[in-house]
Formats: sequence, C-alpha cells, structure tokens
Amino acid sequence: VAADAPEPLVVLDHSRLGEVLDTLATALDPHVDDDTVVVITLPGGLIFGSDLLRRLGASPVVDFVATAPYRPGSTASLVHRPATPLEGAKVLLLTDVIDTGLSLTYVLGELERAGPSEVRTCALFDKPHRRLVPVRIDHVGVAVEHDFVVGYGLDFGGWYRNLPVVAAADLERLSADPTCYRHWAYGNRG
Ligand code: IMP
Ligand code: MG
Repeated sequence: VAADAPEPLVVLDHSRLGEVLDTLATALDPHVDDDTVVVITLPGGLIFGSDLLRRLGASPVVDFVATAPYRPGSTASLVHRPATPLEGAKVLLLTDVIDTGLSLTYVLGELERAGPSEVRTCALFDKPHRRLVPVRIDHVGVAVEHDFVVGYGLDFGGWYRNLPVVAAADLERLSADPTCYRHWAYGNRG
C-alpha cells in the first residue's frame, strides 16, 4: 500500500469561501431578477451554485447544463441541456472554475444558439495563468494561482468534490493515485 501524499495546502477555508460568496452575491444581485434563468454547470458548479442561490435577493429560475468529461481528441458535447426555453431570456451562467477557457467557450456558444437576450458569466474560481482561449467572464469570485485545486465542487476522478474547503493538489501524485489525499480528506471513512 502506497504511503499517503503529504497534506495538500488549503487555499480557501470554509469561512473565506463564505466571504467570497457574499461578495459575489452582492455584485450579482443587481443583475438577477425573478425572470433571470440561472444556469449552473454540473457537476462542478453544484455546491457553488446552491450556496450562491441562497444569498440572492430575487427568486430566479434555476436550470443546469453539463458537458461530457473532457477526453483528448474527442469533441465537446453537452450531456444535459437546460429544460427552460432560453429564447429572449436573461441568463446567468454559473461555473466552478475557468482553466483553459475551452469548456466555458463551448457552453456559451451552445447557450447563445438558443437566442437569449443576454448571457452573463460568473466563475467562482479563475486560473488566468492556465488560459488557452480568451473568454469573457463578467464576475469572478477569486483568482487561484495554483495549477490544480480540489474541493468545494472540484474533483479529481470523482474524489474530493464534497470537501468543504479548497486545496491545492499535486496533479502528478493524483494521476498516479486519485485516492492519495483520501485519509486527509475523509479520515477513517476514506
Ligand atoms: P477548462 O475548460 O480548461 O476551462 O476547464 C473547465 C473545467 O475543467 C471545469 O469546469 C472543471 O470541471 C475542470 N477543472 C479545471 N480546472 C480544475 C481544477 O483545478 N480542479 C478540478 N477541476 C478542474
Ligand atoms: Mg472534473
């Protein structure tokens, strides 16, 4: 049995995440009314989306979009589309993290084809140093300087998504063993 990896660095703890969400909600509130369609990218945006929605003053429509997991050489595709008709709608797209920008660019293109009157974009985390294609982000929660982070919606191979904090993870160790942080993350249940 391989030894556990060294504990990953916690980049954002639960209370800091709460502050980031409060600030984002204050910035978004003027742009969200009861007719706005908030589209959350799944699964990464699930926890962010639910925490943000509970801080908004309006009662927007809530819907979801999901892309197929990225595989080299494969073309992007949506595995879930919003059920709400988006023609003429004011859309607010909530996503977990912008890395290369490819996913958001693809999702934005797909949403635009439905003819909304407006699409505003909001990313909880932004890793600008990783960008491959430029993408318009109207609202950013917080910039992250680490190459790869897990927790608060972000996973590696399905692990760590439900951590209440965000930690900088060693991608080389994770690639060798996706469970390498499980005792740190989940204690005896891991
Ligand atoms: P992009 O298309 O490269 O911008 O990546 C966007 C998607 O990749 C996100 O919605 C995440 O699902 C995943 N992703 C990007 N960076 C990270 C990370 O640091 N940790 C976990 N997942 C990530
Ligand atoms: Mg993922």
